[in-house]
Parts: sequence; C-alpha cells; structure tokens
Amino acid sequence: AHHVKLFYAGSFAFLKSPEHKLMTHFCLFPARTHVSCDIKGDVAVVRFNTPNSKVNTLSKQLSSEFTDIMNEIWANEAVKSAVLISSKPGSFIAGADLDMIEACKTSQEVSQLSQEGQKMLEKIEQSPKPIVAAISGSCLGGGLELAIACHYRIATKEKKTVLATPEVLLGLLPGAGGTQRLPKMVGLPAAFDVMLTGRNIRADRAKKMGLVDQLVDPLGPGVKSPEARTIEYLEEVAINFARGLANKTVSAKRSKGLMQKLTDYAMAVPFVRQQVYKTVENKVQKQTKGLYPAPLKIIETVKAGLDQGRDAGYLAESQNFGQLAVTKESKALLGLYRGQVYCKKNKFGTPQREVKTLAVLGAGLMGAGIAQVSVDKGLKTILKDTAQQGLDRGQQQVFKGLNSKVKKKSLTSFERDSILSNLTGQLDYKGFEKADMVIEAVFEDINIKHRVLKEVEAVIPAHCVFASNTSALPISQIAAVSKRPEKVIGMHYFSPVDRMQLLEIITTDKTSQDTAASAVAVGLKQGKVVIVVKVRERTQVCWGAAGGTGGVQSGEEEAEGRPPGPRQLPARRGQRGGMSLWRIILPGLALPTFCAGFTCSSILRSPYRLFPCSCTEEDIQMRLVTRFVNEAAMCLQEGILSSPVEGDIGAVFGLGFPPCLGGPFRYVDSYGAKQLVDKLRKYEAVYGSQFTPCQLLLDYANNPSKKFHQ
Ligand SMILES: *[C@@H]1O[C@H](CO)[C@@H](O)[C@H](O)[C@H]1NC(C)=O
Ligand SMILES: *[C@@H]1O[C@H](CO)[C@@H](O)[C@H](O)[C@H]1NC(C)=O
Ligand SMILES: *[C@@H]1O[C@H](CO)[C@@H](O)[C@H](O)[C@H]1NC(C)=O
Repeated sequence: AHHVKLFYAGSFAFLKSPEHKLMTHFCLFPARTHVSCDIKGDVAVVRFNTPNSKVNTLSKQLSSEFTDIMNEIWANEAVKSAVLISSKPGSFIAGADLDMIEACKTSQEVSQLSQEGQKMLEKIEQSPKPIVAAISGSCLGGGLELAIACHYRIATKEKKTVLATPEVLLGLLPGAGGTQRLPKMVGLPAAFDVMLTGRNIRADRAKKMGLVDQLVDPLGPGVKSPEARTIEYLEEVAINFARGLANKTVSAKRSKGLMQKLTDYAMAVPFVRQQVYKTVENKVQKQTKGLYPAPLKIIETVKAGLDQGRDAGYLAESQNFGQLAVTKESKALLGLYRGQVYCKKNKFGTPQREVKTLAVLGAGLMGAGIAQVSVDKGLKTILKDTAQQGLDRGQQQVFKGLNSKVKKKSLTSFERDSILSNLTGQLDYKGFEKADMVIEAVFEDINIKHRVLKEVEAVIPAHCVFASNTSALPISQIAAVSKRPEKVIGMHYFSPVDRMQLLEIITTDKTSQDTAASAVAVGLKQGKVVIVVKVRERTQVCWGAAGGTGGVQSGEEEAEGRPPGPRQLPARRGQRGGMSLWRIILPGLALPTFCAGFTCSSILRSPYRLFPCSCTEEDIQMRLVTRFVNEAAMCLQEGILSSPVEGDIGAVFGLGFPPCLGGPFRYVDSYGAKQLVDKLRKYEAVYGSQFTPCQLLLDYANNPSKKFHQ
C-alpha cells in the first residue's frame, strides 16, 4: 500500500469521462488526451494537459502526442511559428514520468529513453519555425530541458513559477540535453549551481540569469480569476512574439550582460575551465563524502561536451543517465521522494470539521515556531504564554521568521502584515471557546502538562482537539487526566519548526480516527511531511526520543511553566535533518555525521560507553546502523510504525539517517536482511542483547524474496 503511483500516465478512466467528449479543440487530427493544439492565425498553440493530474508530466504518451503534433506543425505551411503552453494553472511541465524510468530493467534501456529525449529536443532547437515556451507554474527537469531547447522563453512573474533541474535530488542528471544546453545558456558556473543543487529558481531570478528571456506580470482580478487572466495574457504575449520572430520583426537574441560576457570569455580558455571543474569537484567531494554519484557524473558530462565536443557530450549524458538510474543511491532517493509524496496525503480522510482557529500554548522556540508555520498558511492563531516577557519574545520570533521571507523577497511586507494580523498574542484563555485545536508546547513536566490540559478543557468547545508537542512524556500519560481522551493526540515538531519538514503524530489507543485526521490535516496545511506512529511507552515515539534533540533539560527553552532560573541557550541540533532534500544531502549528512549525531542518543549511548572501541570506523558505523535498523524494525513489528515508508521518512527527515541509504527499511532491502542479521548476531555475541535481532528481521532473513519495498 505504501507504493504511490506518483505520476499518472495515460488514464483509461479519463477516456470515459464527460470532459473527454468536450475536448473538441484539437487542431489537426485524432483525439489526443495529453497534448492539444489550436491554430491562431499562423501561430500554433500547443497545450500540455496530463489528464487527472495537477501537474503535467513528460510521459511516453505525452511525448508521443507532442512529437506527432510538432510533425504536423512542421508539415503545415500555413503555420509559421509555435507557442508551447500548459492548460494547467500551476504547472508548465513538472518533470519526467518517474514510472517510465523505474520500469526500465537495464541501464541501456534508460540510456535509450535519454537518447529519444535528446533527439526530440534537438529537432525543437533546429526547428525552422520559431518556437516560444510560455511558462506559468512549475517548469522542472525535463520541462526545463524542453523550455531551453525552444528559441525563446516567456515566464509569468508569479510565485508558483519556478524553474529547476531537480534530477540530482533523485540521484540522476538532466538527461535530455540539459547538461549540454545549460552551460551555454547561463554560463558554466551558474549551470553547475543549477544542476548540482537542484534548487528552485523563481522567474525574476531566472530572467537575471538568462534562463528566461522575458517576464510577464501577473494580472489582478477581472471578470475571470487573476490566474486565468494571467495565463491568457501570457499566451497573447507569447503568440505575438512568436509571430514577430517568424516575420523577423523581433529577435530572440539576448544581449548578455558584461559579467556574463566576461565569464563566457574566461570559460572558453581550457585552463580556466579545468580550474572550475577542479574547484567544483572538490566541493562536491567534500560535501557528499563520495556517497552520492550523481553530482560527479554531472560534472563529468558537462566536461565531456565542453572539452570533446557535442557528440561526446550527448553520448556521455545518455550513458551516465542510464548508469545513474540503476544505482542503489538513485533508488534510495527516489524511494524517499515517493515516500514524501505518500506522507503528504491524509490517510485518515477528511476531518469532520476543518481547523480554522488554532491555539498554541507556550511561546518558547517550539511554540512560536508552530504559531509561525500555522499563521503563515492562513490559520487564525492564538499564541498564549504565562509571562509577558516570554510572549514578547515568541511574537518577535514569529515576526522575524516572516520578515526573513520579506528579505528574501518571497513575501511582501504587506503580505507579512496581513498574515501577522491573524496572530493574537495573549496571557489568558480569551477566545479559546472558538479554537478548533490547541497545541501545547509547555515545559516537559507531567504536572504542568496535566494542569494545562485541565485548564484548557474547561474553556474549549467540545469538538476541539488537544495536541501535545511532547517528546519526553508518553502522550497516553498526558491523556490519562482528560475528560475526552479521544480528542488527545501527540504532535511532535522538530526544531527549528519553520525549517524542519517532518511532523510526527502520535496516537494513543483512545485517539479517535477523526482526531487523527484533524491533526494530519493541520500538519499538511503547515506544509509538513507527516508520519503517524502509535505511542510507545518505552521510548515514547520512534524517532523523537531515539534521535533526541538533546533531551528536555538541555533542549528548548519553553516560557510557559518554565521553572525560574537562568535561560539556557537553545541546543540547535535539530538543524542536522530535514529541510529541503538537497540541503540534507549536500551538507554532508554522510555516515560519519550521522553517527556523530548518534552519540547523544539514549538508546545507543550505553553500549559504546561500556565497550571502549578498538575497532575501525567502519565497524563503529556498522554497529550504529545495525542497531538503528533493528530498532526501526522493532517499531514496525510492534505496530508503532504502520509502514516501512513512514519509518524511512521519519529516520531521514527527523534524524538525519543518510538519504543515500534511503532509510532503515530500504537499507535492509539493499544490504540484505540475512547479512544484517548475521552482523547483529556477531555484535550480540560480543556486546550483548542490545544487538539481538528482532523477530521481523529474522523473518525477512529467512525468506530472501521478502522485501520491505517492492
Ligand atoms: C509581424 O508580427 C508582428 C507581431 O505580431 C506584427 O505586429 C507585425 O505587423 C508583423 N509584420 C509583418 C510585416 O507582417
Ligand atoms: C487569516 O485567517 C482567515 C481565517 O482563517 C483566513 O481566511 C485568511 O486567509 C487569513 N489571512 C491571511 C493573510 O493568511
Ligand atoms: C517539543 O518537541 C521537541 C522536539 O522533540 C522537543 O525538543 C521539545 O522539548 C518539545 N517541547 C515541548 C515544550 O514540549
């Protein structure tokens, strides 16, 4: 069940749907389901629209329909130019169909796919009729490669318009000519930056870099929605420009800035180029510790094209793409990506009542962080503390958090202020009668938690959910004094809340399905990747307590109920996990770092204290990993984790388990359960029962065909 089909390629249900009958605007020939085309005067407008999906995907079906349409356009003398645009508001093309790549059995098959893509995009580039890409929404991976093969790119200056080559995050490289075109287009250093980080580039930045040629401002509301008007306007501008290109009244040639000219000039010198390769290689080596093959292959591929010419470049690209696609690193990263998508869905269904007003108790680092991500996503939020000083600090933190977005230009100061107007800071329980959910992040002391729960239950409405961000105390112990234990749940955030992606939700035996649904819905609204685990009395929760953000005492400062005494500086160990996938890959969350993180862990502390080690680093790592994996398997065995995929996501995003291994369960699959059990037995003989393999691992070891992930 944990296998998600991410991208829909060709849905038969769609063919039976009424919309299908309505699709009468195909320009030339047969009924097409993924790409359509209108002729506007002498300009062909080609529209992408993957059926039953929010995003367009470069699937086999879409590619073949697109190829057919382009052939018709090239053959049609009445058509002088073309515009490529999407019918979906949020997505130009969001990338290649991952199923298509995963379905390949050999690296040759994948290389073949890459070559087909390269050929198609070359025809676009060589097209005698000018082709303009009109971009609104996500333009990623293969979508960006298509756009940069066109003769001109116009993008809307909207937030949702982002360009990127995220292949590296999946252990791959841009395989349809992207590694060859990007350096020519934006210069070598910028191209490396784009391809090696996979980061999102907003439209205005893309324009500055030379990745797009023209920007279109979004329109306000009119008869139609701003969104629809903006797309129509984009299309109009693109059609005009395409026509102008065809009749040669305008030119697609862009004037490069002085810096870019100088850079290009320098990069033309082989010696300078070699220096750039060397610098970038060193940086990658240092950050990935050699654990991620994709970045090095990207450098190698770019190098092949620039040093040995076009054919060598294309060949290297398709071959390296094929080789990467079958590596275990790529499979692990792809698994994590799919896992993330899986954890962005609410498995408990739609809650009966939508949470609109949220109250957060405790304006410490955690509480203020929770308030920030909530108010930022349109929830009315009350932030309550017991001390004015603590409250002021917390509100200041929320302001700073939002203001940093203003500084980064992802928010206007007007938007910041209107978001902040939904935040109320207070010292009492005023307005709690309207709260749909209360999240407490008060000091980790069972007596304080009990007192707070009782106080809150006296003022909240019957439907209101009570959530606790506890990591040290079992949530069922907190729920024990509740009048309505079915409404009590754990919501375990990671610090810093606005940057860590993971939210771990903990249910007790009494928590109702609807309460769980509400908590997940709120987490998703806050933009979190959500895993749901059952309470575990021994260590409370799988990942939270195991990873330990430093324990309660040394951990977060929480204003509410904080015993008097000097404030400690918060331990910010939480920084080591989460964030964007790339951020956890690159800053070297390789095995050694991962293990270093572990030395503070409660479950792992004792064996290494007791047995001073005279063994190799590899051996230490292996003991840590096997122990960790065994612990994870035990969580699954005991039903604390409901699926391997959630275990993998929790370990990687919450604890900094190395993404290249894909998580503990994927690691068992790739290392082999039998081999792992053998190792555990060996350690067990020396160090004792902490290494006794759990029954579930033994079962998998006895049956080689059993895998956690198919
Ligand atoms: C060329 O195309 C532009 C843009 O549509 C148009 O304004 C102009 O009149 C055309 N010129 C000729 C000579 O056809
Ligand atoms: C403020 O809260 C209301 C009610 O939940 C919501 O509809 C609105 O969008 C929020 N405002 C902002 C700027 O997020
Ligand atoms: C909230 O959860 C975090 C993450 O584990 C933990 O470090 C912190 O102590 C908790 N804070 C409170 C006040 O419950």
